[in-house]
Amino acid sequence: MKAAIVNLFAALCAARAITHTSNGTTPKCYEFMIDVPVTAVNYVLDLQRVNNNIDAVNFALDIDGRTSPNATERILGNVTVSATYSLKATLCTPGAGNDKHVLQLLTHGLIVDSRYWDVEIDREQYSYVRAAVAEGYTVLNYDRLGHGLSQKPDAYTVVQGPLEVEILRVITEMARNGTLSSSGLPIHVAAFDDVVHVGHSYGSILTAAFLAVYPDLSSAAILTGYIFTSNSAPGISTAALAFEYAATNNPTLFGDRGSGYIVPASISQVQLGFYHRDNASDPAGFTDDLLAYGEVIKQPLTVAEWLSIRGLLKLGPSPGFKGPIQFFEAERDFLLCGSNCADDYELATLEEFYPNASAIDVYLQPGAGHGLTFHKNATAGYAVMLTWLDSQGF
Ligand SMILES: *[C@@H]1O[C@H](CO)[C@@H](O)[C@H](O)[C@H]1NC(C)=O
Ligand SMILES: *[C@@H]1O[C@H](CO)[C@@H](O)[C@H](O)[C@H]1NC(C)=O
Ligand SMILES: *[C@@H]1O[C@H](CO)[C@@H](O)[C@H](O)[C@H]1NC(C)=O
Ligand SMILES: *[C@@H]1O[C@H](CO)[C@@H](O)[C@H](O)[C@H]1NC(C)=O
Ligand SMILES: *[C@@H]1O[C@H](CO)[C@@H](O)[C@H](O)[C@H]1NC(C)=O
Ligand SMILES: *[C@@H]1O[C@H](CO)[C@@H](O)[C@H](O)[C@H]1NC(C)=O
Ligand SMILES: *[C@@H]1O[C@H](CO)[C@@H](O)[C@H](O)[C@H]1NC(C)=O
Repeated sequence: MKAAIVNLFAALCAARAITHTSNGTTPKCYEFMIDVPVTAVNYVLDLQRVNNNIDAVNFALDIDGRTSPNATERILGNVTVSATYSLKATLCTPGAGNDKHVLQLLTHGLIVDSRYWDVEIDREQYSYVRAAVAEGYTVLNYDRLGHGLSQKPDAYTVVQGPLEVEILRVITEMARNGTLSSSGLPIHVAAFDDVVHVGHSYGSILTAAFLAVYPDLSSAAILTGYIFTSNSAPGISTAALAFEYAATNNPTLFGDRGSGYIVPASISQVQLGFYHRDNASDPAGFTDDLLAYGEVIKQPLTVAEWLSIRGLLKLGPSPGFKGPIQFFEAERDFLLCGSNCADDYELATLEEFYPNASAIDVYLQPGAGHGLTFHKNATAGYAVMLTWLDSQGF
């Protein structure tokens, strides 16, 4: 693992081009660091400091307490954050004869990094990036701020929802105005008129917030692992994820995380949150290898992000969004719908939120848990997403 990380750093320094061979086409992937200049109004939050495992448990007790303040009641004020952050990104391009010149911009969720979209075990079966590139899309996959090989700034005032929405805006504008190349990408890519935003979980929440504020910047959207549900969830209790202080949980991997970075203690919490199978031979379930992979790519989140999923972002109507939107959900998603997403949403709410969308589609991937890309039947799900996108003219 350590060797792999060292190799990855070496690769980043060389802005290495990695070729994933694929049938018929030869997609090329470029890993690079992208400098994102951004200004956002973040929240000053009433939160306890988390500097060790005892603090991490107290954090859960404080958030979950019956009479504890909710996220919006914890807002003490706001703070303008203005800085340039360095994010790790990978751009994959399809073969020349198979190029739609449509960019898919992928935003991963909590507890994973960009490897969620590009599972390294048996890419043919599990990698969404690979599936999308094979259909002619260019794919930009990045580690969100505070995750993976991206910069890891303050967990209380910096790494939180409003700033992450602005990061999505700046990256989108760079793709649209053709300046990705000047920002560190080692090849020239022409400006994209069509940018499709694809999110998972918290990445979908950020994408939904982005669509509400910058509807004209998105041509089409696919929100996975998130839908406006009819249950009154904050979804999952904080305690169920058994957060530990990240730097203590794994000093080797997470020693660079400071105060306020927390991570689920073990693979069992990751399983609870991301996986579903009825038994080991369930064809819609997951293999033991893929469960182990969830622990390999496990990532800390910040305490402010944990509040961001609980009402800090305004996820209301997006009347300005005129593209098509698909909600692609895991049928057996525990985090989102208590393990049964059937009928746990209202089409009327979606129509109210996206009155000018050219199409609204909802699809439940049978038998899958929240971490859609980790399940055996993932590829068939990708075909549903990509066929839908193509049918909408992208
Ligand atoms: C693509 O090629 C791989 C070997 O490189 C093979 O295992 C796989 O079955 C092929 N897939 C298709 C759809 O032809
Ligand atoms: C930030 O706080 C100031 C003063 O407390 C307030 O006037 C302003 O409306 C706030 N801005 C946002 C975006 O909440
Ligand atoms: C492209 O967009 C980025 C992000 O908003 C901006 O910083 C840059 O000035 C723009 N460049 C051009 C040439 O429009
Ligand atoms: C395993 O789960 C699958 C999917 O639910 C089911 O069809 C099958 O009957 C189960 N097998 C056993 C041995 O329980
Ligand atoms: C938080 O509590 C306030 C009242 O104290 C309430 O108005 C608000 O709706 C609550 N927010 C959420 C997200 O539950
Ligand atoms: C969206 O649709 C509503 C009617 O549902 C209309 O009043 C409004 O002007 C539209 N907004 C935009 C930005 O097109
Ligand atoms: C696999 O996914 C496809 C696409 O959603 C679906 O049609 C099929 O029924 C799924 N297979 C199983 C075994 O769940």
